Formats: sequence, structure tokens, C-alpha cells
Amino acid sequence: MTSAPVDATATAPWATLTDLADAFEPDLRGWFASDPKRTEAMTLTAGDLVVDLSKNLITPPIAQALVQLAREVGVPERAEAMFRGDHINVTEDRAVLHTALRLPREAKLTVDGQDVVADVHGELDKMYAFADQVRSGEWTGVTGKPVQTVINIGIGGSDLGPVMVYEALKPYGKLGLECRFISNIDPTDLAEKTFGLDPETTLFIVASKTFSTLETLTNARLARTWLLDQLRERGIVGDSEDDARRAVSQHFVAVSTALDKVEAFGIDPANAFGFWDWVGGRYSVDSTIGTSIAIFIGPERFADFLAGFRTIDEHFKNTPIAGNVPMLMGLLNVWYDNFLGAQSHAVLPYSQYLHRFPAYLQQLTMESNGKSVRWDGSPVTTSTGEVFWGEPGTNGQHAFYQLIHQGTRLIPTDFIAFANPAHPLKDGDADVHELFLANFFAQTKALAFGKTADEVRAEGTPEEIVPARVFSGNRPSTSIMAPELSPSVLGQLIALYEHITFTQGVVWGIDSFDQWGVELGKQLAKELTPAVGGDEAALAEQDQSTSALIRYYLAHRR
Ligand code: F6P
Repeated sequence: MTSAPVDATATAPWATLTDLADAFEPDLRGWFASDPKRTEAMTLTAGDLVVDLSKNLITPPIAQALVQLAREVGVPERAEAMFRGDHINVTEDRAVLHTALRLPREAKLTVDGQDVVADVHGELDKMYAFADQVRSGEWTGVTGKPVQTVINIGIGGSDLGPVMVYEALKPYGKLGLECRFISNIDPTDLAEKTFGLDPETTLFIVASKTFSTLETLTNARLARTWLLDQLRERGIVGDSEDDARRAVSQHFVAVSTALDKVEAFGIDPANAFGFWDWVGGRYSVDSTIGTSIAIFIGPERFADFLAGFRTIDEHFKNTPIAGNVPMLMGLLNVWYDNFLGAQSHAVLPYSQYLHRFPAYLQQLTMESNGKSVRWDGSPVTTSTGEVFWGEPGTNGQHAFYQLIHQGTRLIPTDFIAFANPAHPLKDGDADVHELFLANFFAQTKALAFGKTADEVRAEGTPEEIVPARVFSGNRPSTSIMAPELSPSVLGQLIALYEHITFTQGVVWGIDSFDQWGVELGKQLAKELTPAVGGDEAALAEQDQSTSALIRYYLAHRR
């Protein structure tokens, strides 16, 4: 599917939206007052997710034009092409099939001659069997002790997904089993995460799609050295290569699409779990990249997690645009970014368990849609890729919400909350979850409706302070609620944002599945290594700023 993208900015709905934006006067107070059914009409359901769009800055004509825009640029058709396995990752000439990772066993999908469903379930079965072995204690370290700590070594999509899900699903994890995550090439990460660990009960999972990522391979080598040093210190393994291989085979497994490289690294291919080049790194948490999660929550719950993704896939695939939650949320982002000038988007989960969700979404959204050219190589025709950020509430309320409430920038927000807490605690008679939710409800209300100068005055505020205490309102939010943060609901939330990202990418005409923008830095880091080591000839080749910075390092290193 390499046909040129439709230029959204040249379509009739774009012109309509431009006119609507020019004449736009947001008035959430008025819109709510004049339409008692606004919330009912603008609250949609996708799986277990109930999504209230009514506090967004849109009117029926804007919504209609956005839906028309999605139709004109072909969002549904491109989604179909994705699900079908067309090579919509144009610059890498690949299918984009993370949605196949959650197809049921009985589904049928053959792409480029590959029986995708059979392959997916083959690897899942292998991962599940391994997870069961580790959880039951059948899989042991070299001294016969069961695994107590699983360390995932990976970066980007091979880290952010697993760590986010591990944190989110802690209540579903096996007691006595801990996961840690090493990603950064800053040696501090490995030093801190291995500190105090018992090597005899530690299992490393080296997770890398390409198995060529500098950070991951360096950390994997360091971990191997750490393991063997520790075991040798205890007199458990000898100095021979055979001893080392035996220990490594019981304490290291790998996940990759490049199983030949796994073997070359010294990990037994029997202990490696595969996936495929049609799974993008940032879309891979539901592949075997989630091995640490499968071990932690067990195969049954991992299957629930996958079923959650599938629920939203089905919704995305089968629901007309006007009721399609991911499409509408993606279109709203387009409205804010391209017509109202928003440059960032805050995601604010009211769940401490989701504290890594915004970081996860940063890779998903920004590595996908931070592009300046379209999939045919032509320049984009409008701005793309807003900055995603956030922190859990209520912590954020005491930090950056000030700017969202009273700053000069438009910051659309997504608030996420759950009806049931994982820990129902009481403070005296007060249900703490209710206090927590009261904050969630209060924030979107304050953002939407604000507080007028007259209302501030009516509270007896001295006139000179009135302006500082006024809240303009008309600050948009989407509220997403679900019964509880279960494995399935987490899968649904992730899939929701995957498809929001997809929708925006199609409107902008960009390939949301490549990431060439990370390459130059990697290449230069390699080239700079001799200069950082003090090589004068290499230093002489550097620009003045880079050279001065490296010389600072060379002068100050101890
Ligand atoms: O450098 C960016 C990136 O390629 C991401 O897209 C990816 O998730 C990450 O690096 C890790 O890559 P790998 O899984 O191949 O080690």
C-alpha cells in the first residue's frame, strides 16, 4: 500500500474546520446549559472503557467535519490494510501486525506466506510453558534454587512496555517474585538493579527486537560478567568456558526477532522466544517481549491482557467513525493540534499503578508520529506529533496542574480512573478511594467550567487578587473510566492509544511505524567513541562545541 497519502489540508472538511476554528468561541458552560444531553450523547463505550468526550472543545459541526476528514483521508481503509497485513510500514517495506499478536488461536491470517496466527500461538505457548516452569520452581538456577528475581534487560519498546505493565499489574503478580528492569547504558542502572541480589535465584531476560542495540548488548555482557563473578566467588562455577556456558544457560534467556544473533551472543536458542519484524518495538509488549510479565502474572492473566487488546481492536475495526473511540480521540487531537494550536497532551491517570503509563505513551506516540515527511517522502503539510506527558493524579495536582488550569497554553488532557481500588483503605470513616476519585472528578470540572471573576468576588476575595484567582475554564479533558485496573482493562487502554496514534498518523499521511529519527545519534555516538577516549586525531575532527565538551570530560575524569 504505497499510494500517496491524501493531503488532509487540501480536503473540504479541512477547509470547514479552518473556518470553524477562525470563528471559534469555546463555551463549555453554555454548551452544557443549553444541551442537557451533551454528556449522554458524547459518552461512548469501548469494551470496559467508558469515555466521556463531553468536556472537549467541540460542537456538532466540528465533530461532523472531523468524521468527514477521517473518511476523506481513508482512516478506516488504512486500518483495514493494517489488520490485513499490507506493507503499510512503507519505509521499511513491512506489514504492521501487532494486532495479530492478540488474535485468537482459531483466527486465520496468512501474510507474505506466513501463517501468522499459528506462529504467534506457537511462541505464546512456548513462553507460557516457560513462565509456568519458572513460577512453579521447576526452572532453577545453576544450584537448583527457584527463581526469585527476573531482570529484563532491554530499552525503548523492549523495556517501557514490560516495566509499565509490571508496575500496573502488581496486584496480579506472584508473591515472592520480583521483576527489575535494566535499560540505561549508564552503568548506574545495572549496578543499582543488581545490588544485593542473589545470583543463584536471578534470571535475566535479554529483550531486544534486533539484538543489536548497544545499550542492551552492553548491559547483557555486564550482567553475564556479574553473574559469573558472583557464582565464582561462591565457588559454584569454575573458570572453564563449559562452566560459564552451563550457568548462563540456566540464568539467561532471550527474546528477539534475530535468533541467530541470540545464539552468537551465547544464549541457548532453546531458551529464546521469537517474534517478527512486523511487530514494532513500541507495539511489542503483547509479544514475547512481555515474557517477564507472563512470568509475573502467569499465562492465564497474560491471556486476559491479550484479550483486552483484542476487544479494542474489534471496536476499532468494526465501529463507524462517529462512534469509534480511538478514531474520535485521534481526531480530537488533530483538532487541537492543527486548528487550535496545542503542542502537548497530558495523560493523567488516577492510579498510582499507572505511574509509568505516560512514559510508555511517550514512545508509542512520539516515536510513531514525530515525523516531518509523509510515507511517500514528501513533506508533511501541517504540524505533527504533539508532546505527550503526564504523571499520576493526585501528585500532578501539586506540581504542574497550575499551568494546565491558568497558563496561557492549550493543553488537552486525558484523565483515567477506576471505580474500584486495588486497596480499599479507610481513613477513619472516610473511604480513601472516594477522596481520590473526588479529586479526579473535581479536576475535569474545574478545567471545563472554571470560576468567573464574579464568583471569585462572591467569596469575599479582595478586588486586587480577583484576577489571579479567576479560572477561565474551557480547558478540554477526556475522562476515561473502567471498573478496575485488571489485565484486560490495561490491554484495552494500551490498544486504545495505539489506535489513537494510528488515526493521527493517517490524517497526517505519515508512516507511524518507522523511527529513522533515532539513527543519527546512534551513529554519531559510535563515531565519537575514540574522541571520548582521548584520541587527538578524532578530537580534531569535531566541531568546536562537541570538542570543548569532550575536553571538559577528559580534563575532569578521575
Ligand atoms: O532506538 C529506538 C529503538 O529502535 C526503538 O524503536 C526500540 O523499541 C528500541 O530502540 C530497542 O530496540 P531493540 O528492541 O531492537 O533492542
